[in-house]
Amino acid sequence: MPFPEIRLRRLRRTESLRALVRETTLNPGDLIYPLFICPGEGVRNPISSMPGVFNLSVDQAVREAEEAASLGIGGLLLFGLPDSKDEQASGAWDDNGIVQRALRALKQSPSAKKLVMMADVCLCEYTSHGHCGVVLKSEDNYEIDNDPSLELLARTGASLARAGADIVAPSDMMDGRVAAIRRALDADGNTNTPILSYASKFASAFYGPFREAADSAPQFGDRRSYQMDGANLREAMREIELDLVEGADMILMKPAMPYLDVVHAARERFGVPMGAYQVSGEYSMLHAAFEKGWLERDRAMLESLIGIRRAGADFIVTYFAKDAAKIL
Ligand code: PBG
Repeated sequence: MPFPEIRLRRLRRTESLRALVRETTLNPGDLIYPLFICPGEGVRNPISSMPGVFNLSVDQAVREAEEAASLGIGGLLLFGLPDSKDEQASGAWDDNGIVQRALRALKQSPSAKKLVMMADVCLCEYTSHGHCGVVLKSEDNYEIDNDPSLELLARTGASLARAGADIVAPSDMMDGRVAAIRRALDADGNTNTPILSYASKFASAFYGPFREAADSAPQFGDRRSYQMDGANLREAMREIELDLVEGADMILMKPAMPYLDVVHAARERFGVPMGAYQVSGEYSMLHAAFEKGWLERDRAMLESLIGIRRAGADFIVTYFAKDAAKIL
């Protein structure tokens, strides 16, 4: 019985009707807020390509976290800018490293510690060359050496858990890192620390502004020998499958908007908790359009987030976390 008996517009007439039949929800608790921790005190350095995002010293990060907690945000994802960088990324696995210190400070705050503290596990912010693994250099070539990188990543994950991370989140894309990190956590007695693996992470131009925020741009070459080719969906499913076999508890898909089909395919296929990362470039391009008056800020922001939830993500890592939570 088609039109005129059937009229889909009947259920769109008022906001209460629309709310009643709404299929996808978005709550502050679904949002994870990334923070970039830097040395010093009282530091709030703006990132020019990401309006509203700052490098924060530990004391400022605690204040930011307390505000996030009061808005009902689900958790934080911590990145660090170390005092100094070297070939072995020692700042990443130093028990007194910048994120480790931030974690200990955050755990002292009664309100901030209610947030789920996720710590990114990667070497690129801590290596002098800016790559996510150990670099093997020859005269006219270089390679990101997978297996020696695993030891450093494992040390990093273990150290972050000892400092108080509730979840460790490897984003390096080395083969075998989840198993290596699991072994290191377990050897420390941290058998209850979950691993959120950036299982399907594509080599993306949309990470550009992040590399300014985290000072992590590779000094030579690019990340295409370890991050995935943006054209590949079947390979993404294999990455996820292998990370789960290695012991990943949850998966993170990244970027979000240009890869919503991958998010959806993963949701259909895997019954594990899954997040998606609305990355820096997604945030920056929306902001650029807001500033020009080309897009309506609140509506475009919420629409970008609900789209990611509808594709199948349980939670979303987003720089809009606070702004979105304020409206929701
Ligand atoms: C570290 C890492 C990156 C991002 C998250 N973890 C950068 C990269 O891979 O170059 C990007 C996040 C963003 O763009 O917001 N490897």
